[in-house]
Amino acid sequence: MTVLVQNGTILSATGRRAGDVLIDGESIAAILAPGQADALGIAPDQKVDATDKYVLPGGIDVHTHMQLPFGGTEASDTFETGTIAAAWGGVTTIVDFAVQSAGQNVHECLAEWHEKADGNCAIDYGFHQIIGGVDEESLKAMTYLVDNEGITSFKLFMAYPGVFYSDDGQILRAMQNASETGSMIMMHAENGIAIDVLVAQALARGETDPKHHSFTRPAEMESEATHRAIQLSKIAGNVPLYIVHMSAAQALKEVAAAQHEGLNVFAETCPQYLYLSLEEHLSQPGFEGAKWVCSTPLRSHHEGHQRDLWKGLRMNELAVVSTDHCPFCMKEQKELGVGDFSKIPNGIGGVEHRMELLYQGVVTGELTLERWVETCSTTPARMFGLDKKGVIEPGADADILVWDPNGHTKIGIDDKHHMNMDHSAYEGFEVDGKVDTVLSRGTVVVENDEFIGRPGHGRYVKRGLSTYLN
Ligand code: URP
Ligand code: ZN
Ligand code: ZN
Repeated sequence: MTVLVQNGTILSATGRRAGDVLIDGESIAAILAPGQADALGIAPDQKVDATDKYVLPGGIDVHTHMQLPFGGTEASDTFETGTIAAAWGGVTTIVDFAVQSAGQNVHECLAEWHEKADGNCAIDYGFHQIIGGVDEESLKAMTYLVDNEGITSFKLFMAYPGVFYSDDGQILRAMQNASETGSMIMMHAENGIAIDVLVAQALARGETDPKHHSFTRPAEMESEATHRAIQLSKIAGNVPLYIVHMSAAQALKEVAAAQHEGLNVFAETCPQYLYLSLEEHLSQPGFEGAKWVCSTPLRSHHEGHQRDLWKGLRMNELAVVSTDHCPFCMKEQKELGVGDFSKIPNGIGGVEHRMELLYQGVVTGELTLERWVETCSTTPARMFGLDKKGVIEPGADADILVWDPNGHTKIGIDDKHHMNMDHSAYEGFEVDGKVDTVLSRGTVVVENDEFIGRPGHGRYVKRGLSTYLN
């Protein structure tokens, strides 16, 4: 089966050009000059018209949590609903997190995640492994996963004592292991021990509303942990360290300083930290703010975190935009925290909206088109060893997003929302541009405002080591 995506402007992380993309089976066969296919007598089986549209590598979201058991409940998107929503939003690959907690066997936990995802995903997927219990057995398993399972990145937590938390000694040991295998440590950088004290004190004062989630997780708790993680990574042999879901300007400064020093330190942020704030969202009256309880928390607009994160994205201090998609409904899920903000399940759903929200950053002049592609597709692929993804080049997987810059997208549960949530964190947002057509390994999965893919089309992708630095 051959497909020709024709008459569009092909975008990459480094430029744009008029051209046609010839797909043969699941891969990109050639990039042709406009009209060249006709001249060569190529008669594709299928044509996708991209006139007046951008043609870019499909979005890659390297931070999702489908079906994550968390906060006394489970993230509301399954691998099926979540990956279909992702496809609607122009995403063609996710990397989700398999979870091991203290005392559990890593291999059994990973097998459980494969069982959840296998046969259910509409787009391709990989796994990072959360190590919630660093011990001899899990350290050995880390090596095995790198060598045999295509899992080359491991998330550790400096937050959530008693749940996923690792102390500094455990973190150092995991980092030393990663340094030996060349794998990546992903860090949830918040000082969870100190945060738990602030939370208990706030609750004792009767401060129970959702906004106290942010007041009890001040920026210093994020920057201190970020600094500590960086120092530990240096001691562990300059192991590649990737700070997840960064929201504080002060933490970003720590990353920038480490990069200036030549350390292998990277960071991601998420659309919620660029667009949403403590004042406008988390502080909404009553229990409404629960929709925006996530960790790290939304921060104050007044303090300028959002502005500094956009700047960090432009300067490559932040290399990647992911979503940390971790959806919970208000009903029966977020509601667990009525009267006690610390019991609100932490997480925001957004896998469907990252490409459109970040394109809005292009419209408003925060980013270039090329940087949009780079932070949402090309760098995530290179950072996490997705060797055939993130580029439109011969030999790459034919994962393609055709984007209509003249389109318009309304975000909200009544307008365009396919995630399994009873609300949207971005309700009422309207942005320029629109997902037009999405191809996953050569198969059209979204076109004409219709999802025409199928659960089970998506395959598990074994990842290599990060190629971002090599
Ligand atoms: O609030 C969040 N971020 N929930 C998902 C779990 C995590 O820490 O990434
Ligand atoms: Zn986290
Ligand atoms: Zn997460």
